[in-house]
Amino acid sequence: MKQPTSVIRVLELTEPQRHDVFATAVVEGLSKPRKTLPCQFLYDAHGSALFEQITELPEYYPTRTEIGILREQAAEITASVPDDAVLVEFGSGSSIKTELLLQHLPPTVAYVPIDVSPSALSEARQRLAHRFPKLHVYPITGSFTDSVELPAHFHQRPRVGFFPGSTIGNWTAEDAVCLLASFRGVLNENGRLIVGVDLKKDARTLVRAYNDSAGITAAFNLNLLVRINRELGSAIDISSFRHEVIYDPLRGRIEMHLVSVIEQTVLICGRRFHLRAGESIHTENSYKYTVAEFQDLARQAGWSTGRVWTDDGAQFSIHEMTARSNA
Ligand code: SAH
Ligand code: AVI
Repeated sequence: MKQPTSVIRVLELTEPQRHDVFATAVVEGLSKPRKTLPCQFLYDAHGSALFEQITELPEYYPTRTEIGILREQAAEITASVPDDAVLVEFGSGSSIKTELLLQHLPPTVAYVPIDVSPSALSEARQRLAHRFPKLHVYPITGSFTDSVELPAHFHQRPRVGFFPGSTIGNWTAEDAVCLLASFRGVLNENGRLIVGVDLKKDARTLVRAYNDSAGITAAFNLNLLVRINRELGSAIDISSFRHEVIYDPLRGRIEMHLVSVIEQTVLICGRRFHLRAGESIHTENSYKYTVAEFQDLARQAGWSTGRVWTDDGAQFSIHEMTARSNA
């Protein structure tokens, strides 16, 4: 079916609405027989700062590897981006990788970073204003799984999506197909999407990347409980939980958990949640793909797969895709 010429839609929520969304998600996740918390809530201001520290850890290879590929290939990746394009980034964080693309693009390109983390967006905006003073930056605070409209003057401009960091791996394959299909709607008929995808590799390397020796990833994971205490008025004893990382080779995914070290009851939003000693709260999945597996998933979402760039060690991949008009 032909896609309608869509506008970019992401829902920008007010502070009280954001609070309610968080409270509802926490209560819902902890009410399940297998407790979960959605990973998008890892990124409050402290979480975003901890994520930036993670990207510099010796064990966390994805960021430096993807940056290495971008440094080498940015000219080629950006070659067919039209001068009047709107570059839409999903989960932009610090926008550090984006700079490598922007260096090859004219200032006539506009940049729309979308992120749930207001602090990450405002820091990125300030840095970009300094480094690219002529660039038109239009940040949107919100979840790219929701919807809001872009200003009318962007509607007629060609769109290029950028989704680096292997953030796509934080969705199950089924949900990733839906997400990529929704990006196809956002980016329009002739849209292009550049996606960074972490590749399958040995379990030891993967587990170390998510369980670093300095304990930064543990702090990132545990910060979700700190956020619940602060924003939802709870009094969870953070030291009664530990960070756990599992690689599930069948599903091809790293799992992050918060494991209760004691039997306890936590009080959140007036609700009591009982945890057995050793019971886990599943906080994040990070799926790893082969190039072919990811391409298959992209095709299911209505994208034609194009060039793929990888590093020499085949640790990480960057995929170029174009919207299939007959999908
Ligand atoms: N693109 C950056 C950051 C990756 S970290 C990089 O490659 O280094 C993932 C980012 O996505 C975080 O900044 C987080 O706040 C954001 N994020 C996670 N889930 C999101 C969602 N549903 N909507 C918008 N942003 C999201
Ligand atoms: C953003 N995302 C792709 C990171 C990942 O590798 O799954 C988040 C992260 N979690 C722990 N370390 C990094």
